[in-house]
Amino acid sequence: MKIFVTGSAGFIGYHLCQNLLKNNFKVYAIDNLNNYYDPQLKKDRLRNLKKNKNFFFYKCDLSNQTKIQNIISVQNIKYIIHLAAQVGVRYSIKNPKSYLKSNIIGFFNILEISRKNYIKHLIFASTSSVYGKSSTFPLNEKVNTDKPLSFYAATKKSNELMAYSYANIYNLPCTALRFFTVYGPYGRPDMSLFKFAKAILEKKKIELFNKGHHERDFTYIEDIVKGIMLLIKKPPSEPIPYKCFNIGNGSSKKLLSFLKVIEDYLKIKSKRNYLPLQAGDVIKTHADINSLNKYTGYKPKINVKIGVKNFLDWYKKYI
Ligand SMILES: NC(=O)c1ccc[n+]([C@@H]2O[C@H](COP(=O)([O-])OP(=O)(O)OC[C@H]3O[C@@H](n4cnc5c(N)ncnc54)[C@H](O)[C@@H]3O)[C@@H](O)[C@H]2O)c1
Repeated sequence: MKIFVTGSAGFIGYHLCQNLLKNNFKVYAIDNLNNYYDPQLKKDRLRNLKKNKNFFFYKCDLSNQTKIQNIISVQNIKYIIHLAAQVGVRYSIKNPKSYLKSNIIGFFNILEISRKNYIKHLIFASTSSVYGKSSTFPLNEKVNTDKPLSFYAATKKSNELMAYSYANIYNLPCTALRFFTVYGPYGRPDMSLFKFAKAILEKKKIELFNKGHHERDFTYIEDIVKGIMLLIKKPPSEPIPYKCFNIGNGSSKKLLSFLKVIEDYLKIKSKRNYLPLQAGDVIKTHADINSLNKYTGYKPKINVKIGVKNFLDWYKKYI
């Protein structure tokens, strides 16, 4: 089966494409390879993917509707997984416009192409950040999400609303996935695990915002990919074909104990710089994953100890 993936050179896109290829999908993929973080990492991921003859990559921005439309109609593709986005909560404070461009206009382009090509299932990335400053845990999909704390979260919440309207008006089957702090090998350099490992190994100070009192539902990449795979052939079939799921590990861990897992495995104590809470940051996330479990049987398997070990083993070899 053919499938179109955006953001294939990114962290989640890379692992998803690997799994799709392993399961004999023909993967048509785009990424603009931007330099929000070191593009070399994106090129290295792509190099691995290109070893497979069923992987077809196009360097392409979400703004290029014509090129994307062309790939999808010529190849007669009916399934899209949309992961490309301007990511990061903190970067959105200084650079809101790049979120507008990739996450709002870019997403609009994907919706338009999807409806014109009668896509059977559009799965797209949302985020746990849409929950903002919630105080009831675990967070379930029914909780109100109309008070985003950052512009990044606002664009992702907007995606959910835009998709719902396309599901309603054009009968486009859409599934939104709210990812919770994904980590693992080939992970993002702007996220805590990568930053902590790098600083500890280079004997530099790590920055702990909110003095390290954040709590996160850390989700291992393999579990995330399994969850997406389970969903592909299960498009929503309600009169308004739209669904929204949390996809997390289903437990919450203090950032300081996550750090301890890293220190224990590296057998090095970190040097720390305790900083105040950053504007836009959510203090705690904890996913209720019952809804996705009931719908697909999704059950995350990898705990933080194993997941962190896998990341660190990869990281030490990679650098
Ligand atoms: N990693 C997480 O913990 C996490 C958590 C919540 C949500 N998400 C969402 O999951 C998706 C994937 O995240 P990721 O962690 O793999 O991030 P990533 O930055 O590694 O991957 C995103 C990819 O999209 C590409 N891209 C960005 N703008 C583009 C554009 N305009 N045109 C074409 N390509 C573009 C980037 O070059 C990058 O390779 C994103 O939508 C993100 O918002 C991720």
